[in-house]
Amino acid sequence: MKLLVCGGAGFIGSTFVRQRVMEYGDEVTVLDKLTYAGREENLADLLPERGFRFIRGAIEDAEAVPAAIRASDADAIVNFAAETHVDRSIAEPDAFVRTHALGTYVLLEAARERELRYLQVSTDEVYGSIEEGTFTEESPLRPSSPYSATKTGADLLVQSYFHTYGLPVTICRGSNNYGPYQYPEKLIPLMVLNALHGDPLPVYGDGMQVRNWIHARDFARAIGHVLEHGKLGEVYNAGGPDEEANIEVVRRIIELTGASESLIEHVADRPGHDRRYSLSSEKVRALGWEPEVRFDEGLAETVEWYRANEAWWGPIRSGDYRAYYERQYGQALG
Ligand code: NAD
Ligand code: DAU
Repeated sequence: MKLLVCGGAGFIGSTFVRQRVMEYGDEVTVLDKLTYAGREENLADLLPERGFRFIRGAIEDAEAVPAAIRASDADAIVNFAAETHVDRSIAEPDAFVRTHALGTYVLLEAARERELRYLQVSTDEVYGSIEEGTFTEESPLRPSSPYSATKTGADLLVQSYFHTYGLPVTICRGSNNYGPYQYPEKLIPLMVLNALHGDPLPVYGDGMQVRNWIHARDFARAIGHVLEHGKLGEVYNAGGPDEEANIEVVRRIIELTGASESLIEHVADRPGHDRRYSLSSEKVRALGWEPEVRFDEGLAETVEWYRANEAWWGPIRSGDYRAYYERQYGQALG
C-alpha cells in the first residue's frame, strides 16, 4: 500500500510506520506537525529506507494536506495526529478542539476529493468509564474529558462522511498503550524515569483506577489489520490482554527499577477521572488479529528500553518537559 500517515512521528504512529515499512514493504509518507510530542528522532531508523518520506505539516492546514497527498500518491490516509494527554486537555483544551475537530475535517475533505480510504485512530475513552464488564463497539459514547470529547467528535464526523458521502472509512479504538518511544508525561514512562532518578512517584487519588494495557506494537498491528480486512463504515475495538490498577503498575515499576516504595506519593486526583476502562475486542479478533504481548513481559521490556535509551529521553527530560512537570505537579524534577 501507499499510505499517508498523519501524526506518524508520535509514539504509536512511529511504531505503526516502522511495522508497515519494515515488515509489510508499504510506501509511507508521514505528515506531522511536530508538536512537543512529535519527534523526528522516533523515525530516524527509517530515513534510509526507500519508500519512506517525512513532511512537516499540520492536519488542519488545508493547503499542506492536499500537497502531502499529492507527494505521497497515497491510496489511504491513516490518522494518528492528535493531542493525546488528558491532563493537558484539562489545563488547555484549545489545541484539542483545533486538531481533533478542524484537523479531522480537513483530512476528510481531502480524502473525499480523491476518494481515498481513511482510517481514524481512536480511543476507548470515547465510551467513558465502566465499573464492571467491557465496552463493545455498540456501547454508548459518553466521553468525560476535553480530550475524549473532541476525539468522540472526530469519530462522529468520520462516520458522517461514510453515511453522507460514501467515503470508505474505518475507525480503530485502542485501550491504554505502552512501550518504547512514549512521551514521559504518560503514567508508565513518567513512573519509570522518576523511579530511575529517585524522584517522587505521583499517584492520582487512591491509585485504584484500572486501565486495560496494550503494547503499542499490538495496537499498531490491529490498525494495519483493520485497514486491510475491516468492513467499510465499521468501528473496531482493540483492547490489550491485561487490566491493572495504577498502584499495581507503579509497584511493578518499583520492582523492575529497584527503586524504593517510599517514593510513592498520593497526590490530588485528576478532575473527572475515569475509574476504569475495559474493551471487548471480539470484532477485530474475528478478523484474525490478537494481541501477542502480555503486560508483565511488555512492561519489563519497556523498562529496559528506557534504561538503555537515555539518548532518547535525556533531551526531553531536561527540556520543556521540566516546566510542564512543575506546572502539573507543583514540584520540580530532581
Ligand atoms: P503522541 O502524543 O505520542 O503523538 C501524537 C502525534 O501527532 C505527534 O507526533 C504530534 O506531533 C502529532 N500531531 C499533533 N497534532 C497534530 C496536528 N495538528 N497535525 C499534525 N500532526 C499533529 O500520541 P500517541 O499516544 O502516539 O497517540 C496516537 C493516536 O492514538 C492518537 O490519535 C490517540 O488519540 C490514539 N490513542 C492513543 C492511545 C494511548 O494510550 N497513547 C490509546 C488509544 C488511542
Ligand atoms: O485509554 C486510552 C488513552 O490512554 C489514550 O486515548 C490517551 O491518549 C492516553 O493518554 C491514555 O489516557 P490515560 O489518561 O488513561 O493515560 P495516562 O498515562 O495519563 O494515565 C493513566 C492512569 O494513570 C490514569 O488513571 C491517571 C493515572 N496517573 C497518570 C499520571 C500521568 C497517575 O496516577 N499519575 C500520573 O502522574
